[in-house]
Amino acid sequence: MKAELEAIAQKMVSDGKGILAADESTSTIKKRFDAIGVESTEDSRRDYRELMFRADAMKEYISGVILFDETIRQKAKDGTSLVSLIEKAGAIPGIKVDAGAKPMALFPGETITEGLDGLGGRLKEYYDLGARFAKWRAVIDIGAGIPTPGAVAANAHALARYAALCQENRIVPIVEPEVLMDGDHGIERCYEVTEYVLKVVFSELYQQRVALEGMVLKPNMIVPGKKARTQASIAEVAEQTVRVLKSTVPAAVPGIAFLSGGQADEDATAHLDAMLKLGNLPWKLTYSYGRALQAAPQKAWAGKSENVAAAQAAFTHRARMNSLAALGRWSADLEGKKAA
Ligand code: 13P
Repeated sequence: MKAELEAIAQKMVSDGKGILAADESTSTIKKRFDAIGVESTEDSRRDYRELMFRADAMKEYISGVILFDETIRQKAKDGTSLVSLIEKAGAIPGIKVDAGAKPMALFPGETITEGLDGLGGRLKEYYDLGARFAKWRAVIDIGAGIPTPGAVAANAHALARYAALCQENRIVPIVEPEVLMDGDHGIERCYEVTEYVLKVVFSELYQQRVALEGMVLKPNMIVPGKKARTQASIAEVAEQTVRVLKSTVPAAVPGIAFLSGGQADEDATAHLDAMLKLGNLPWKLTYSYGRALQAAPQKAWAGKSENVAAAQAAFTHRARMNSLAALGRWSADLEGKKAA
């Protein structure tokens, strides 16, 4: 079982490939569709995800796709399951299993991610539906007096319990403790909070007997808050991010796949590329982007069937740029050029 988990984890972070986070909940995808003037229905969500999973990007640049509960059960227009489309492209289907971040009792302004009750049973069902990895996201906000040690400990414990349940059910856990980039804090505060959170998370993973070789970490990068007065250079973000990860993430972890967290598409690419160019890294570094892979195709699609090819091209372009970044071979002048 351990070898099976390790093989999946390694495939998820194989050279030049990354993960497509397409696991928006029904309410989140509605927000994305509202922005492009598309009504969110079971069929429109299916049509959108089907076009993504049939795009050229899937074969070359995507190792795995994180799905939402509805999507893992859906069929394409021709009756093929969306899971089969992903598998046929050579990618691994994955599933978001948390039930969302909810206000935490007695911790004003902080959240705890729910979804542990009955999770073992749900994982068994998802395995039968084709999922070979899962995702659970803990949300840590930075503000006056937060995060508190109590809320970080509760979230880290839940992440570790989730990861243990995944491994017991032959599913690789993506462990995602996201420190948000909302707010006006500087890059130093993001560093300090992320360092603390990762230390606590790895301590809990150890306590819960999680095999580090059979998991993937999905962290935020070290960036200033969106409303901070001083923004950071690409080089600074790359250096600080690699520094915090080297001081907190054991080399036994096969790979780290970043979330984009609201960064501009090209920034998310440039930051990843700059980290790879630093070199001398003990784990693979790649992408597990939601918005930074999907914003461009969503805009190009706008819900119209005549735009499907353009949307697929936009997705393939962003995926190719991120694939090059994950190899440390991206440069800004490649952005204007479409794939040959
Ligand atoms: P973003 O890249 O849009 O942050 O989404 C990734 C994700 O899966 C967040 O949980």
